[in-house]
Amino acid sequence: MCRFLLLGFTPLIVFYCIPSNADLSLTLNTDEMEKADAMYQQYCSLCHGKDREGYKADHAPSLKSKSMLSTAYPQLLFDSISWGRVNSAMDGYSHEAGGPLTDSDIILLIRWLAQKENVSPVELEQVSIKGDSSKGKALYASNCSSCHGQQGQGVTAPAIADQLFLSSATDSYIKHAIVHGREDTPMQSFKHLLGDEEINDLVAYLRSQASGWKPAPVELAEWPSPDEYVVNSRGDGPAFNLREGRYVPAMEVVKAIEEKKRMIVLDTRPGSAWQRIHIPGAVPMPYYRDKSRIAENLPNDGTWIVAYCACPHAASDSVVDHLRSLGYENTAVIDEGILKWIEMGLPVVAGKDKTDNVKRQSN
Ligand code: HEC
Ligand code: HEC
Repeated sequence: MCRFLLLGFTPLIVFYCIPSNADLSLTLNTDEMEKADAMYQQYCSLCHGKDREGYKADHAPSLKSKSMLSTAYPQLLFDSISWGRVNSAMDGYSHEAGGPLTDSDIILLIRWLAQKENVSPVELEQVSIKGDSSKGKALYASNCSSCHGQQGQGVTAPAIADQLFLSSATDSYIKHAIVHGREDTPMQSFKHLLGDEEINDLVAYLRSQASGWKPAPVELAEWPSPDEYVVNSRGDGPAFNLREGRYVPAMEVVKAIEEKKRMIVLDTRPGSAWQRIHIPGAVPMPYYRDKSRIAENLPNDGTWIVAYCACPHAASDSVVDHLRSLGYENTAVIDEGILKWIEMGLPVVAGKDKTDNVKRQSN
């Protein structure tokens, strides 16, 4: 189960695939079930909820819906968890993306997700669906944009114009989702609301938004060492005005950085997200880190610690809650989160995505 990409003019071929020796059987033994359950609670429940019901934070979708699991298993689930989605709180968890999980951890998770709901994978046709994308665009505006966003950027529903989603989801997968919907979620079945041709037009429209971008391994940067944690170590501390005693506006943090104030900035997203893009000087402190290690090497001497995530608060809140329980008083969460921070054009350090050096493919 493999796909390959030919990148630009260089003879560089990147494979991203489910290892061919992977055990994809849907019967897990008790040990495997327990291991997967623990991994799920540590890494995923923050947003997808304790029982995979979704919508715990940041509109993370349900991971229980049979129509999703039966068509996403195994490749789309594997890709989504390995690489995340480009512009959302869903980050990549694979080692290749700079995250914490091995391929076999991810395979165990996807087998567990499928087995929990007892799904049988549906074999989808590998065909490209023909339709009129300009008609699809109009249908999209009237039937879909209220939840998925005018540009498909996601509002209360997943970003279906996301380049990672489009690089992994086949036409038949998208059509199946529109026809069958996602049970127990706001995504209804459009089988009786739209004709087959109209659904094909919608698929053609969504597909027309794919740029041909594909995920590829990033060049991983070294994590900062403890002696680099404090930025402007000789400066004074900042004076922050916190909302609800906790949330600091992004503009106050930027001002403090510019005025060379002493502080620590924690990036509480998965390591992969820090690799991709982060606030200058930010130290990775992922929300899933063992609680006993969260405060590791953080001075408890009144130095301000500001944490952020994408969600915009779920992960950073959990880290700040923990620090406060240990007596760190000068702690805050950046109110807007990093996705808004980027949108506001505030300073960031971008990682070295190997695809940036290569001509983007056109579809
Ligand atoms: C910080 C919040 C957050 C965490 C933690 C998180 N996710 Fe997600 N996840 C999301 C969001 C938001 C989306 C929808 C992204 C979009 O807009 O396309 C998503 C999408 C997904 C999808 C795609 C589902 C679909 O219907 O296509 C899968 C699969 C998934 N997540 C699995 C996981 C697993 C497994 C973990 C733990 C290893 C995890 N997620 C951790 C927020 C999160
Ligand atoms: C009322 C809000 C709403 C509307 C309207 C809506 N959707 Fe959805 N859609 C959702 C939600 C929420 C999900 C995620 C469900 C879940 O939790 O799995 C979803 C999921 C999807 C998915 C699967 C995404 C994935 O990652 O697997 C596709 C494709 C999709 N919708 C397409 C459409 C199209 C096309 C339309 C218009 C014909 C549409 N949706 C209208 C709310 C909506």
